Amino acid sequence: MEQFVIHGGRRLSGTVTVSGSKNAVLPMMAAAVLSPEQCTLRGVPRLRDVAVMREILERLGVQVACHPDGTLEMWARELGTCEVRDELSRQMRSSIFLMGPLLARAGKVKVAYPGGCAIGPRPIDLHLRGLEALGARLRERHGYIYGEAPRLRGQEIHLDFPSVGATENIMMAAVLARGVTVIGNAAKEPEIVDLQNFLNAMGARITGAGTDVIHVEGVRELGGCQHQVIPDRIEAGTMMAAAAITGGEVLISGVIPEHLESVTAKLKEAGAAISCPQPGQILVRGPERILATDFKTLPYPGFPTDMQPQVMALMCLAEGTSVITETVFENRFKHADELRRMGAQIKVEGRAAVVKGVPVVFGALVEATDLRSGAALVLAGLAAEGVTTVEDTSHIDRGYEHLEAKLAGLGAHIERSRAGSGPPTGV
Ligand code: UD1
Repeated sequence: MEQFVIHGGRRLSGTVTVSGSKNAVLPMMAAAVLSPEQCTLRGVPRLRDVAVMREILERLGVQVACHPDGTLEMWARELGTCEVRDELSRQMRSSIFLMGPLLARAGKVKVAYPGGCAIGPRPIDLHLRGLEALGARLRERHGYIYGEAPRLRGQEIHLDFPSVGATENIMMAAVLARGVTVIGNAAKEPEIVDLQNFLNAMGARITGAGTDVIHVEGVRELGGCQHQVIPDRIEAGTMMAAAAITGGEVLISGVIPEHLESVTAKLKEAGAAISCPQPGQILVRGPERILATDFKTLPYPGFPTDMQPQVMALMCLAEGTSVITETVFENRFKHADELRRMGAQIKVEGRAAVVKGVPVVFGALVEATDLRSGAALVLAGLAAEGVTTVEDTSHIDRGYEHLEAKLAGLGAHIERSRAGSGPPTGV
């Protein structure tokens, strides 16, 4: 097991470029199964989740080539099987994205129940109900979901909750369905707009992504395409929080600032000075004194749940008390226990966490239990007095490309090492 060893207390400064969006790439990789022609993505980050999705595609019979410049070529000329096996599904929740495309292209699918981050129960009922509404017959047996659909039919589907994954799965299934599908109460995340653009480049007819009603007019077949993936707004937000928590000055480049409006607003309330000197750039100047601010996670354009742990780390060092309400996921406060080991004062009650700011947190041995919690602990470590060891980088590597190299490039003292080989942790 690998770990990050961080010597805290350095102000970050310099420029960092964000990678392509993990959450945009994963459904697009699944969507490549929809066409027998080659699809090329540019700006693909080198992440563990991308590697797992690649392996899933290869086992299905898709030819995949990854180039060092972040170009990913996928060619699903023929599919050898429509089964996503248990050992791969368990590693990544996004394996569920294969359901829509395989049903649409091959008329059948067998997918093991997905695994993924330990952030509470994450049901897939909205995915399943949406696919059934399009005419798929689904059965659940021995931990697998079996699906069949001679040809899907367009339908009006209203989601109970604007689930990102369910919206994407239904879009991918509907592109080859007979007739028109209307998805009401759809998720509005930028990754959904990017998926629409990718699918339309393949020849799909989708409109409305980015609003809460998406129209998909089914077509008989899709072709190949080339597409540039949007920048990762959560990686960008994490870097913004890193600048803020260290009182540093960081220019984040290769971003779409409009995707980060809610994060920018919160960090400004916390005292950071934030500007956009050029298109595609965000400059963050961390405050001398971090100010407490309440926030609540919500579907886009609200404050992203994927930034909640990192901004909680910031609030641990704020002047005053903040209340953080998590409305998207149950049980997404595991990082609170670890932050407390560093001296933070956090009380969790149901879906709310009350954070009483302290003047200083201290280095400690902490464990990354999921992707964004891991990022939060790294941020706390950057600001802590002494040495912090964040155990189990595998969760962090699922979603951040070379996090330690990017932070070290900004002046952080952070190293990756094998567990047990780092210097003693503490002050
Ligand atoms: C996606 C993101 C994840 C982010 C989340 C919310 C990807 C690969 N992952 O996850 O990083 O944290 O959006 O912005 O894009 N739900 C159901 N039934 C379902 C589906 C979801 O009840 O069938 C619930 C979930 O349990 C959760 C809420 O809806 O409470 C939001 O989940 P959803 O938007 O689906 O998140 P994901 O697509 O899994």
